[in-house]
Amino acid sequence: MVKKALACFALLYGYALATCGQQHPLPNPLVLKDGRRVTSAKQWQNQRRPELLALLTSQLYGHSPEKPAQMRFEVFDTDPKALGGKATRKQVAVFFNGKPDGPRMDVLLYIPNGVKGPVPALVGLNFWGNSTIQADPKIRISTSWMESNRGNPYIDVSCVVNHQSTDACRGLNARQWPVDSILSRGYALVTAYREDIASDESTMKFSTGVHTLYPDLQNRGDNFGTVAAWAWGLSRIMDYLQTDKAIDAKRVAVFGWSRLGKAALWAGATDERFAMVISNESGAGGAKLFHRGIGENIRRLCTVFPHWFAANFRNYMDKDTLLPFDQHMVISLIAPRPVYVASAEQDKNSDPEGEFESARAASSVYRFLGTKGLPATQLPPVNQSVQGQIGYHIRTGGHDVTAYDWAQYLAFMDKHFKR
Ligand code: GCU
Repeated sequence: MVKKALACFALLYGYALATCGQQHPLPNPLVLKDGRRVTSAKQWQNQRRPELLALLTSQLYGHSPEKPAQMRFEVFDTDPKALGGKATRKQVAVFFNGKPDGPRMDVLLYIPNGVKGPVPALVGLNFWGNSTIQADPKIRISTSWMESNRGNPYIDVSCVVNHQSTDACRGLNARQWPVDSILSRGYALVTAYREDIASDESTMKFSTGVHTLYPDLQNRGDNFGTVAAWAWGLSRIMDYLQTDKAIDAKRVAVFGWSRLGKAALWAGATDERFAMVISNESGAGGAKLFHRGIGENIRRLCTVFPHWFAANFRNYMDKDTLLPFDQHMVISLIAPRPVYVASAEQDKNSDPEGEFESARAASSVYRFLGTKGLPATQLPPVNQSVQGQIGYHIRTGGHDVTAYDWAQYLAFMDKHFKR
């Protein structure tokens, strides 16, 4: 009783989380499965980190394949005078199993000209195809299946015909991709289309992209869902970047918004080659905590998007506050590398406070590893970015990627990447 009162008191002051009322304590990333505390950075790296990876892999995201031995890159376009001479554009076909008629992902790169290289890069998947991030007539239009308009509040995709992108879609989503500002800051922008990697339609039953190559990893509890497949695709982009002399593969930030933010976090958690992770309103299955029981819950995720996560995750429907893990552990797996978590005031589905609390809970691991972690103990006021080794902001407005968001991410990249 006294203990509980203390916990509730602590909660009031923002020091304890989910220990009050109906909620159950957040599992502690710094306590081993056998109950012992992690006592050294080495033990974190060699014992606890692998434990957490295994837990989140089997129960949430699923088991992804290794890098395919036969994978092949083909640079099919290089223009050193793209965007009026500002950038070098490259397009690379990634043939996952080496075969030209097998699953293929196109990677688009804009590399700033006139900057002493190799340059750091920002990598992120896009929702509507590479040709939509910039009105550049030379970007190859993806032939992968494309979602048509179903009332997306932020974009009108009536240019998509019979689930195929068309010329009319060029530059459609440029608003969310400030190519010019990214290049001006000396960063390369690297992107690929989500559907080239894995289908975002549950009805497709994993019949496209990388899933077709690994039937043995399907029909099992820890099958890799689409979010893990996208993260896998991001790692394949990193494989390519390591071969490109124009890019400094040691300074690559992985970025994603919403469902693609979930993928960016898991990519950063599973692939330590990513030097930074930026999660823009990744919400449930991304940065937000399930334990709070606020915002999108596990039942909704598993019924509306049954293809996103491993089948095992369905066992936790209606048990959000009882989970033996939570999303602060995903962020912890990125430690001590810099991570930025961003929320939007009206994006209640993503539970902004739950995203903040998750970053704050992960901060214990960052501090344990000797970094500053998140320099805030309370949700900061709107439109005020806090930046340590973990960055966070909540901005005014709804579910989107805005100029405000990008201004913070570029500042965060400057802070950690500039020499
Ligand atoms: C839905 C879903 C979210 C997801 C978002 C998106 O709103 O409920 O979990 O992040 O789609 O990807 O746009």
